Amino acid sequence: MTTTMKCKSDLDTPCLVLDMDILEQNLQKMQAAADGAGKNLRPHVKTHKCSSLARKQIEAGAIGVCVAKVSEAESLVKAGLDNILITGPVVTPGKIERLIDLLGLSANLMVVVDHPGNIELLDTALYTKGLSMGVLLDVDVGSNRTGVRPTDAMALAGQIVSRQQLHLRGIQAYAGHVQHIRSYDTRKHTSHECLQGAARVFREIRAGVPTCTIFSASGTGTFDIDLAVTEISELQVGSYACMDTEYLNIGSADDDTRFAAFAPALRLLTTVISANHKGFVTVDAGLKSLYKDGGKPQVIVPEDSALAYDWFGDEYGRITSTDNSELPSPGTVLELITSHCDPTINLFDKFYLTRGTEVIGTWPIDLRGCCQ
Ligand SMILES: Cc1ncc(COP(=O)(O)O)c(C=O)c1O
Repeated sequence: MTTTMKCKSDLDTPCLVLDMDILEQNLQKMQAAADGAGKNLRPHVKTHKCSSLARKQIEAGAIGVCVAKVSEAESLVKAGLDNILITGPVVTPGKIERLIDLLGLSANLMVVVDHPGNIELLDTALYTKGLSMGVLLDVDVGSNRTGVRPTDAMALAGQIVSRQQLHLRGIQAYAGHVQHIRSYDTRKHTSHECLQGAARVFREIRAGVPTCTIFSASGTGTFDIDLAVTEISELQVGSYACMDTEYLNIGSADDDTRFAAFAPALRLLTTVISANHKGFVTVDAGLKSLYKDGGKPQVIVPEDSALAYDWFGDEYGRITSTDNSELPSPGTVLELITSHCDPTINLFDKFYLTRGTEVIGTWPIDLRGCCQ
């Protein structure tokens, strides 16, 4: 962490700010939930793309981290982190070579597999280097993105077990299609229903392969729901650390109108740069600073201002008032909760870290652009 003694209001915009008090509360809350249920926590780093924040999650008690891509894993290993799970299949010879090179530096690196051809390729490539690797079988519980359907999972598990260089350590079952279901009860019902098949697969594999102990699952939207699934051994949650409006707008256990479990640690600061029209003003954050996905960003500072943001092209945003009150004048800095944190963070080089109004340092977003 580099130290700068600035005030939040001195920061140039658009920029991303992490409220450290809120971030720490979010990390502690998720860790306590996992600990309380006897589960491990392996947070997904694709959300924040920041090795310093990943280290903070480990210091808070996480057993390791998840990444989506090999290049993210490479950056984390370079930053000194290990116990990394790659949650998407790695299938091309070139990428498998990178994976195995990385395994040479980080022996407990794991990857998911979901296809017979991929299992063969990986096993052969490992054999030629004299290495072996832990893998998780990716089970598709209804997202239809990656993974093998539960009905075909045992055959693929058998193939993995028959390969010399692969160690079947468990399964992954991420229910991405469930995470943002608005109603808590429907989300709970759907998550339990779709994880049943994966739990059955896990029990069956474990009966024959005692080293198969990992069942990695869950996201921020179902973290508390999935704690009740006894077979799940670890949570691979991501968004809870930073949060965004896409999550804040779904219901939670205590309040079916908003997601109260975690607070927004991530904020975007943007400045009013023009105010020459009736009914709206223009700010300096557009599509290049606020990813357009998952609903609208929410203006939270000035507080109680009833200001609404909408995109206004690549570089700009349009601010209107929902109650016809006075609009902010040029130079005013607004603070927004972003619509979808992952792709928004990937647009910036660093987070400014704040406590109250003080900027206490920065963290590089060092995995930014690691999408290979
Ligand atoms: C495979 C996988 N696991 C875990 C997560 C984390 O989910 P969330 O950000 O909802 O906590 C994601 C996010 O998309 C994911 O793709």
